[in-house]
Amino acid sequence: MSRVALVTGGTRGIGEAISIALKDAGYTVAANYGGNEERAREFSERTGIASYKFDVGDFEACQAGVEKIKTELGPVEILVNNAGITRDTTMHKMDPSKWDAVIQTNLSSCFNMCRCVIDDMRENGFGRIVNIGSINGQAGQYGQVNYAAAKSGIHGFTKALAQEGAAKGITVNAIAPGYVNTEMVQAVPEAVLEKIIARIPVGRLGEAKDISRAVLFLIKDNADFITGSTLSINGGQHMY
Ligand code: CAA
Repeated sequence: MSRVALVTGGTRGIGEAISIALKDAGYTVAANYGGNEERAREFSERTGIASYKFDVGDFEACQAGVEKIKTELGPVEILVNNAGITRDTTMHKMDPSKWDAVIQTNLSSCFNMCRCVIDDMRENGFGRIVNIGSINGQAGQYGQVNYAAAKSGIHGFTKALAQEGAAKGITVNAIAPGYVNTEMVQAVPEAVLEKIIARIPVGRLGEAKDISRAVLFLIKDNADFITGSTLSINGGQHMY
């Protein structure tokens, strides 16, 4: 039986690449999505990967979603916390709703999802958790106090949970992508993005596959000695 993997925000952007890479490697994949029904339907038809709609920022919705996946596919053995949003603006223009939305979706989601799968992982003596952080959680970014705080939180969360999981066969790692060519990055004003790309030593934006390849490496059964680490994948933009 192939292992069951759940990817949050798994029907678009980096998450889509991760879902497809896991399926191609033989895993049974559930792709969570938050809102875009049309894209999720198109994704599932094209890839044959089941998609599950629930809000990762809502604990009860996560419980119901994970339960449904367990009934249909089996207990989640691999969790990739990828779902994330931006609400970029400078502090003096940021209203509390932009702070709350980003913290809830990008950081509280990690608690919600891990809490919902951790009992089964502990009981089965096996688990792989990969949290998608960000270069901007490591280095900060103008216009992103909310996003940088949430992503930085993910890095601390990862190290704490890794300590708890270690004796139970559960590894917890983070990936900190740099600027990857997705809709999220394409939304950055062109003039700003040009300046950012000019600071990437490799000379290009990342591709979603640059990230999905690393997820595959971290979730392997034999990657059991890698835990609590953060893998920076950013073309050399920030060496941390
Ligand atoms: N450092 C220093 N100053 C900066 C700056 C920076 N990085 N970016 C902008 N400024 C300055 C501008 O030069 C400008 O100064 P002047 O008025 O003196 O010319 C001033 O700040 C205002 O800049 P904007 O005109 O851009 O201001 P705005 O209010 O229209 O927009 C912003 C501000 C929303 C932050 C916009 O600059 C922006 O979207 N920046 C990109 C933020 C970013 O990188 N987001 C990443 C999204 S992708 C992602 O998050 C994925 C991931 O994990 C990597």
